[in-house]
Amino acid sequence: MTQTQTILTCSPDSDDLALREVRRAVPAGSLNAEIADGVLLLEADFESLATVWRAKAPIFVRHICPVHTKLALPATDDEETLLILLRSACEDALVPRLLDDQPFSVQTRLFVDDFPLKPFDINGALADIVPNAPLDVRQPAQIISVVVGRAHSTLTAWLGISAAADNLSDWAGGARRFAREQGRISRSEFKLLEALEVFGVQVAARGYALDLGAAPGGWTHVLRERGMYVTAVDPAALDARVLNDSGVRYKRMTAEAYLRAEPDTFDLIVNDMRMDARDSARLMNDYARLLKRDGAAIMTLKLPETGRIGVLDHTLDLLERAYHIAGARQLFHNRSEITLYLKRR
Ligand SMILES: C[S@@+](CC[C@H](N)C(=O)[O-])C[C@H]1O[C@@H](n2cnc3c(N)ncnc32)[C@H](O)[C@@H]1O
Repeated sequence: MTQTQTILTCSPDSDDLALREVRRAVPAGSLNAEIADGVLLLEADFESLATVWRAKAPIFVRHICPVHTKLALPATDDEETLLILLRSACEDALVPRLLDDQPFSVQTRLFVDDFPLKPFDINGALADIVPNAPLDVRQPAQIISVVVGRAHSTLTAWLGISAAADNLSDWAGGARRFAREQGRISRSEFKLLEALEVFGVQVAARGYALDLGAAPGGWTHVLRERGMYVTAVDPAALDARVLNDSGVRYKRMTAEAYLRAEPDTFDLIVNDMRMDARDSARLMNDYARLLKRDGAAIMTLKLPETGRIGVLDHTLDLLERAYHIAGARQLFHNRSEITLYLKRR
């Protein structure tokens, strides 16, 4: 098997934790260069990493792509010269690896200022030379990845091709952006939208959801859009748009107080409370009895600046008493937190 380099993307604040996950998966793996904040060139074989992470995805590594060929780019403003070089590298090293008839997409990321080409130019030029596979940017099965940046002061293009599922995200660098629709209540909505998509959560229309730490109401709004009836718990104020929605029941109190009030049972519990991760986990364990038998939960864990691994391991141990941890990822819309998908034991 040919060994490859790998380009990894993670939250810039979590690169130490992402590298730890690399070394756990491939002990000989090491950092070659930092291409940009949170974008790392690794001496670690892509296929070996993907094989380990197919069984269980890492938490902090957001995206990986392989390097099948790299080329040093000349310092030129001539777009056609650059496109010819990129096209010929793609024809020589990637096209022979493409699976016929499997939809593909080209994803380009540029990490140099004043590069004369835009990602769109490169995506279009490379998509044109693929003979037998259909282009499908929405649901590709295979992805040609192009990264342009500097490593050890050399302007370089790294190119590779892989199964979309092995990249850990269908989006270039894992950057899942949502349209900024009018009527969104908070930026937090993107966190829940991304979690529902990444973990493949089926939300039961007309089901009952409990939103702990709901204010100002972004997550409640997302669940209402999907037809759930929502009990929103938070001592802070809810936005009038969710407050006036007849499908929302507002309990202006803490999650601890609501639990003492012996509330109903729910199909889904979501928790985005600003709270120590371990305290939040203990409270979620107490709430597990309010989940229906096939119920699920989504929660964010706020990690401290120091000692993150200790806190994370302790928190996951606590949660495993009441839940099966079906997913744990630092999502694109998470900051210094991660998102968990839990199933009731
Ligand atoms: C990040 S905000 C939640 C944002 C919300 N998911 C949204 O989409 O609008 C965190 C919330 O946790 C709430 N919170 C903190 N401790 C709480 C507790 N013990 N019980 C209930 N809510 C709590 C805060 O009042 C705050 O509104």
